[in-house]
Amino acid sequence: MIETITELDALRARVMGWKRQGLRVGFVPTMGNLHAGHYSLIMLVRQYADRVVSSVFVNPTQFGPNEDYTRYPRTPDADTTGLEGAGCDVLWLPTVESMYPFGIELAAKVHVPGVSSVLEGECRPGHFDGVCTVVSRLFNQVVPDVAGFGKKDYQQLAVIRQMVTDLAFPIQILGGSIVREADGLAMSSRNQYLSAQERPRAAEIRRTLQQMRQAMLAGTARAEVEAAARAHLTAAGFQVDYAVVRRPDLSEPGPADTGARVALIAARLGRTRLIDNLEF
Ligand code: PAJ
Repeated sequence: MIETITELDALRARVMGWKRQGLRVGFVPTMGNLHAGHYSLIMLVRQYADRVVSSVFVNPTQFGPNEDYTRYPRTPDADTTGLEGAGCDVLWLPTVESMYPFGIELAAKVHVPGVSSVLEGECRPGHFDGVCTVVSRLFNQVVPDVAGFGKKDYQQLAVIRQMVTDLAFPIQILGGSIVREADGLAMSSRNQYLSAQERPRAAEIRRTLQQMRQAMLAGTARAEVEAAARAHLTAAGFQVDYAVVRRPDLSEPGPADTGARVALIAARLGRTRLIDNLEF
C-alpha cells in the first residue's frame, strides 16, 4: 500500500527509518496528472533504490504570469492509484505554504547560469529558477540517494545535473527515456489541451525531429536543417519557438561535429505549447 504524507516531520521520520535499515531511497518529483511517462520514472528509479518516494506539487514559481498554473490539471485520486501500481512507496504532498515558509517573495532562490539561459530559458524567463528552487527544496525534504527525471524535458535534466554537481547534492541523477503515444506524440499533461482537430497534427513534431536527425546524419548543414524544420512546422500550422540541433550540454555544435547531438523543438499549436527532442 502506498502511504500519502503531507507533513515534513512525518516524511523525514519515514525516510530516516529506511536509512537506518540501510535501504537506498529513490525519488521522482512531479506536478501530478500522472501518465505512463511519470510511471516509467518510478520503475526506473526502483531499479536503483529499495524504496521510492514521489512528490506531487504544482510549483507556482516555475510558471510565468501568462502560463497555466491555475488551470494545470489536478487529478489526485488517479495519481495515487497509478503511483501505487507503479511501485511507489510514499506520495509526498507538500503545500505551497510548507514549500515556501517565508512566502514566495522572500524565498531563497536557486539560479543555474549558462544552461538555464538558452532555448526554454529564453522563451520562459525565470522558469528554470523556479524548477531549481523547488527541486533543491524537494531534495532537502526527501534526502534521496537517487532521483529520476525524464528526457522529455531534456534541458530541465541538463539544468538539474549541473545544479547537483555545482551544489554538491549527494544524489545520483537518472535520465528516463521519453514515453510516447502510439502516433509518436510525447506524453504530456498538456496534450489534453489539444482540440480534436489539433491532436493528430501534434505528431508532426516527432516526425520533424526524425527528419532533422536524418538530414544531419546525411551531412546537411545545421543552419539548413534548422530552417527547414521551422518552415515545415510553420506550414503545418505551428508557431515555432525553436527547432534546433545542439550538443547534449545545449551548446551549438560546430560544422565538423559528429559527436552526440540532440534535435529539440518547442512549438505551439493553438493555445498549447509542446516540447520534444530526439538524441542521435
Ligand atoms: P512534470 O511535468 O510533472 O514531470 C515530472 C517528470 O516526468 C519530469 O522529470 C519529466 O521530464 C518526466 N516526464 C514527463 N513526461 C514524460 C514522458 N513523456 N516521458 C518520460 N518522462 C516524462 O517536470 C516537472 O514536472 C517539474 O518541472 C518538476 C521537476 C516536478 C519540478 O516542479
